[in-house]
Amino acid sequence: MTQMMKAVQLHEFGGPEVLHYQDIPRPIAEAGEVLVRVHAASINPPDLYLRDGYRALPPVWQPSPVFPLILGTDISGEVAAIGDEVAGFNVGDAVYAMVRFPQDLMKGSGAYAEYVRVPAHELALKPQGIDHVQAAGAPMSLLTAWQFLIDPGHDEPNPFQSFQHEPVPLDGKTILVNGAGGGVGHLAVQIAKWKGAHVIAVASGKHEALLGNLGADEFIDYTKASAETVAQDIDLVIDAVGGRHMARFLSVIKRGGSLFLVNPLGFTGHTAAASRGISVSSAQVRSSGRQLAQAGHLLDNGIIRVVVDSTYPLADASAAHQRASRGSIQGKIVLNNL
Ligand SMILES: NC(=O)c1ccc[n+]([C@@H]2O[C@H](COP(=O)([O-])OP(=O)(O)OC[C@H]3O[C@@H](n4cnc5c(N)ncnc54)[C@H](OP(=O)(O)O)[C@@H]3O)[C@@H](O)[C@H]2O)c1
Repeated sequence: MTQMMKAVQLHEFGGPEVLHYQDIPRPIAEAGEVLVRVHAASINPPDLYLRDGYRALPPVWQPSPVFPLILGTDISGEVAAIGDEVAGFNVGDAVYAMVRFPQDLMKGSGAYAEYVRVPAHELALKPQGIDHVQAAGAPMSLLTAWQFLIDPGHDEPNPFQSFQHEPVPLDGKTILVNGAGGGVGHLAVQIAKWKGAHVIAVASGKHEALLGNLGADEFIDYTKASAETVAQDIDLVIDAVGGRHMARFLSVIKRGGSLFLVNPLGFTGHTAAASRGISVSSAQVRSSGRQLAQAGHLLDNGIIRVVVDSTYPLADASAAHQRASRGSIQGKIVLNNL
């Protein structure tokens, strides 16, 4: 008999109202995969972009998926079954992962569901010191901060530039994190602190107390003063916001310094950067169980932590997407499916 599960499906692109909580057949782990019973799944910007059919992209790049599809990449849960050719995991293990990203960027990785198939090499044991909600909040944001600041962890072609992204030394350096209250930003702040940097966090005022608690040495409320009028002599700016005005950060960076663009689309400052001796680099985050295991030690012993903006039942994914669209997110929005 076919085993069923609950999942949030998309039958067309559109706003949050196109997310439907439904009964569908439970997936089966194929060779090299693990079936995970999902306890929590977090929301990331690509979920919203895909729900909307990547309308901001030129039509030739927009997806033409086979509906229905299931959004979501980031999960924390429990191993329910193990496919052939998988070693290192047992039924009942608590695990977390970013699932098939960017491979399934345009079709959805299936995380908004009670069960999801995960390639074993993308899984890591969940840090024991944190719960499923926090662990589900980590994968994409943590891997992005890690792959930008610590170790890219792969040599796949970089879709944003002709060369591989390379992290720079952080110890004793002054680092400005733009978008510091968001998913990527709040983890970038903590990782830079862990590595010995002096960290300036840029965010709206509501995040000031939190970012101080997370270790930021200085805070700039961008609603009161723009970072480029306040900061100077920065070694590295990591911009976790994007948009048309990223080049303004070049004026605060030292000659020989770096500008890392987490969302590089629309950056126009390459010539100005070259004339100022500033290197500009970006990268696309990629799934990695190995790196989640490494960075998981920091979560386990409290050196870094995942801040949860809000939680919603899986059945209310549409309300969670409405919250995400309102912006000013502090940490992560998580779908709770205990
Ligand atoms: N390259 C990759 O592989 C990769 C991976 C992950 C994410 N991304 C991209 O990186 C970006 C951030 O992702 P995320 O998950 O961290 O998003 P997020 O959780 O939504 O965080 C965005 C943060 O930016 C802040 N913000 C908005 N406008 C701002 C401004 N003008 N100046 C400073 N801060 C501002 C928001 O709060 P406040 O306005 O209240 O401060 C919010 O906290 C997205 O564009 C995403 O698509 C790229």
